[in-house]
Amino acid sequence: MSTNNTLFRPFSLKSLNIKNRIVMAPMTRSFSPNGVPTADVAAYYRKRAEGEVGLILSEGTVINRVSSSNDANIPHFYGTEALAGWQNVINGVHAAGGAMGPQIWHMGIMDNHHSGWVPSQPFEGPSGLNRPGNTNGNTMTDADIADTIAAFGRAAADAKRLGFDCVEIHGAHGYLIDQFFWDGTNQRTDIYGGKTLPERSRFAVEVIKEVRKQVGEDFAIIIRLSQWKPADYNNLLAKTPQELEAWLNPMADAGVDIFHCSQRRFWETDFEGSDLNFAGWAKKVTGKATITVGSVGLDGEFLAAFGGASSNPSSLDELLRRMNRGDFDLVAVGRPLLADPHWVQKIRDNRTEQLKGFSKEALAQLV
Ligand SMILES: Cc1cc2nc3c(=O)[nH]c(=O)nc-3n(C[C@H](O)[C@H](O)[C@H](O)COP(=O)(O)O)c2cc1C
Repeated sequence: MSTNNTLFRPFSLKSLNIKNRIVMAPMTRSFSPNGVPTADVAAYYRKRAEGEVGLILSEGTVINRVSSSNDANIPHFYGTEALAGWQNVINGVHAAGGAMGPQIWHMGIMDNHHSGWVPSQPFEGPSGLNRPGNTNGNTMTDADIADTIAAFGRAAADAKRLGFDCVEIHGAHGYLIDQFFWDGTNQRTDIYGGKTLPERSRFAVEVIKEVRKQVGEDFAIIIRLSQWKPADYNNLLAKTPQELEAWLNPMADAGVDIFHCSQRRFWETDFEGSDLNFAGWAKKVTGKATITVGSVGLDGEFLAAFGGASSNPSSLDELLRRMNRGDFDLVAVGRPLLADPHWVQKIRDNRTEQLKGFSKEALAQLV
């Protein structure tokens, strides 16, 4: 099976034109003091473009709500200084022949950060909960919800204005949008709550519609989703293919071009009777392009890595088998690209003996 033929085909969708199928997964680095991406951050992304990553997705970057972040060093995607920082980032990436989209983010209800920093207003979410039984903030009012939707739209408009190639909405991993999806954190009795997943998806659908309205028809919109939550790794928001279809299609109709299907291990399946993974199912039920992710090229998953576990390089054969079958369009790679800007070139040139794997020490600096 040829890695080159499979992973090194170009891909085009609306505003997005990329030279290969490899996407740098969004990874929070917390190197942006007071929310402003520095020259070091710009250099870090530029190196990935020079290293021939097809599409770079930025670390999560927060929208303009007072309590959208729990960490003073996570970049903002609003305000003159932060947007000037992002302008440097995208200019550098484009100068090196790359393509990039910011991952726009509102964290929702969080635990307090270990640094002790807290936003000047309480965290906010659908029901004040970040996991069942744990309240650490306010329940959003209608006005909060409307302003948050508008803030997502403004961030997307700014992404387009600065020259980014696409935008990704962070709808995964237990953060704000996902807190609306999950009945464990959404106990609202108004139109943003409800017994069914499609009812609890109304907030996401309204965010997507606003983003689409702000960027126009020709700008590519990605949404990142996960079935799992940090509070419940085995959670399935959609328990059957039918529920998956009922969850995703309203988002596709609202304007999503690409579903970024977050898994910890890309080879795992959600529904019995098929070996399709989340991205495979999402493509099958929506007909939209999808991105797979999760331990590509590594033998250990990323949450264990936060606990200090190291991962070694592993074969891409299973990934290529699925991709050659047409299960998904793009492949996101996280830790290997965090640790090594030249990962793509090593894969392309079959220099497997030079692959580094991943250890926690890589998190300490931007290389
Ligand atoms: C240091 C680190 C920070 C991350 N931050 C984000 C983030 O900001 N947004 C997001 O959607 N996922 C985030 N993730 C998850 C990655 O995007 C990716 O899904 C995960 O690492 C699995 O891919 P991998 O096995 O190739 O590393 C992060 C992962 C790591 C290792």
